[in-house]
Amino acid sequence: MTMKRSIEILPDTEAMARRGARIFAGEARQRVRKAGLFTVALAGGSTPRRLHEQLARGVPPGETLPWRTTHIFWGDERHVPPDHPESNYRMALETLLDHVPVPQAHVHRIPSERRRAADAAAEYEETLRAFFKAEPGRPPRLDLILLGMGEDGHTASLFPGSSLLAERERLVAAGTVAKLGTRRISMTLPLLNAARRIVFLVGGSGKAGAVRAALEGAGSSDPPPAALVAPEEGELTWLLDAAAAAGLKDPS
Ligand code: 6PG
Repeated sequence: MTMKRSIEILPDTEAMARRGARIFAGEARQRVRKAGLFTVALAGGSTPRRLHEQLARGVPPGETLPWRTTHIFWGDERHVPPDHPESNYRMALETLLDHVPVPQAHVHRIPSERRRAADAAAEYEETLRAFFKAEPGRPPRLDLILLGMGEDGHTASLFPGSSLLAERERLVAAGTVAKLGTRRISMTLPLLNAARRIVFLVGGSGKAGAVRAALEGAGSSDPPPAALVAPEEGELTWLLDAAAAAGLKDPS
């Protein structure tokens, strides 16, 4: 296990988004130089909005990224059509993809309009396996996976108590979020933990408890799902704003 983990505490969510954009740009430029393309999975929810807007302006502003050789994936999606207000794809379209020249064929969204979420998950897994020419038993390695975390410690659509947390074969699976009464499609831990680099962006005082539980093991016995994200041969970076980090005893 040669995971490298770092925690960075930024003064506020705007600084966190700027730092996230600089990391994204650095990974994109390095991977395109090295491998000729950059593969990244975007996160859902609201936190990534500011990051996307920073990326759309260029990093630093005016300095575009290698979008024409970038492939976009998603870590999870709600079981709604792509034009639904709750769609993570729609949020990314509005805040980033409508503003940068990523070729349409490089946007690999989760087909969340399928009648059954399980069918969408199976189809997306096939998309990933085909794109990465994955060998059986070896999950594909994305260059970068962006993740958020909920106040309950969930990440992607891996929620506390979910059977998806125990999934070790499938790369993408469908689950029901009991408290929301909704279906979700999510990358599973084997796929997440195969990534070259994972960056969490977590902001706001409401998440301070979950951050402490995830990073310092405080609170209930079961580690929150976000604590199970540990890229075996990769780099894990937690970007926190001061409010989300306030509960940490040892932020190093
Ligand atoms: C989603 C995300 C989810 C999100 C957290 C944090 O589909 O909602 O994948 O894991 O990252 O719920 O959401 P906020 O950024 O809105 O706080």
